[in-house]
This record gives sequence, structure tokens and C-alpha cells, in this order.
Amino acid sequence: MEFNESEFLVETEVPQDELIISRTDLNGNITYANETFCEISGYTEAELVGKAHSIVRHPDMPKAAFSDLWSTIKNKKQWIGVVKNLRKDKGFYWVEAIVSGVYKNGELVEYKSLRTPISYEKKLEYQRLYDKMRAENGEKIRKIIYE
Ligand SMILES: Cc1cc2nc3c(=O)[nH]c(=O)nc-3n(C[C@H](O)[C@H](O)[C@H](O)COP(=O)(O)O)c2cc1C
Repeated sequence: MEFNESEFLVETEVPQDELIISRTDLNGNITYANETFCEISGYTEAELVGKAHSIVRHPDMPKAAFSDLWSTIKNKKQWIGVVKNLRKDKGFYWVEAIVSGVYKNGELVEYKSLRTPISYEKKLEYQRLYDKMRAENGEKIRKIIYE
């Protein structure tokens, strides 16, 4: 499929009154995605379950954000951060994500994430921050893989 740059500029607004929810196994493979997650990301549940959560990784996200996420949740702490995600159609959506472990009888069995919308000002702030982080770490500004 062919995409042009302008398609990367289309934003999907996350509704105020809904939560985007997913769970993953300990390796970050999706085990559950709610209806709102499917609607906002443009995937069906069947397309998401079993896939690595990086299926919605946007090329604008710096690597450091995810290494921080993983070290935090592996340390049994809750990670709260701003994430720009990639839709199936290559559009994007911004969220604040709360990611943490799911425990059964004190044992870590899965991870879960709840996401809510952020303000326009916060999107701008984080776009600038993440652009700066990628530039400082020599990460590409746009890395888009077409399939
Ligand atoms: C519960 C949970 C939710 C996650 N949600 C997202 C997400 O919404 N977007 C995203 O890009 N990565 C998310 N990740 C992080 C991915 O697992 C992955 O680390 C990230 O996309 C970077 O991809 P990479 O590790 O292949 O570089 C999540 C991880 C967990 C454990």
C-alpha cells in the first residue's frame, strides 16, 4: 500500500469520556484491547491480540520513552507518560498512558494500560520534547516502513 506524507498529519481525537484499555503478556504482546482502543487505533481486536504492542508505535516517539516505561514497570512501579501512537491508516493520536503490572496472589502475570486524552498545549509540548530527544540521540526524524 502507498501512503503519502500528508496522511501522517491526520489526527484522531481521543474522546474525553472513554478509556483506551489494553493488556499485554510479560513480553509486551497484546492479550486484550477494548472497543475504544480498536476504534481509535483503526484495528480490529483480532488484528491486535497476539501482536507486539509496538504495532501502534509512532516513529516520532523517542526510544528513551519506552526504555523508561519498561524499566519502571519491571520495577513494579506505575509509569505515567505521554505517548503519540500510530493508527493503522498511519494517522496518529495522543494519549496520557498509565502502565502497570497486573498481579495475582502477589505474582506479576500481565501488564495493563489505561489511556486518556491530553490538551492541545500538552501535545505541542511533547511533540517538541520528543523531536528534541530524537535529534539529541541521533534517531531518525521520520522512519516509516511501508508494507
Ligand atoms: C501494557 C503496555 C502498553 C503499551 N502501550 C504502548 C502504546 O500504546 N504505544 C507504544 O508505542 N508502545 C506501547 N508499549 C510499549 C511497547 O511494548 C514497546 O516497547 C514500544 O512500542 C517500543 O517498541 P520497541 O520496544 O519495539 O522499540 C506498551 C507496553 C506495555 C507493557
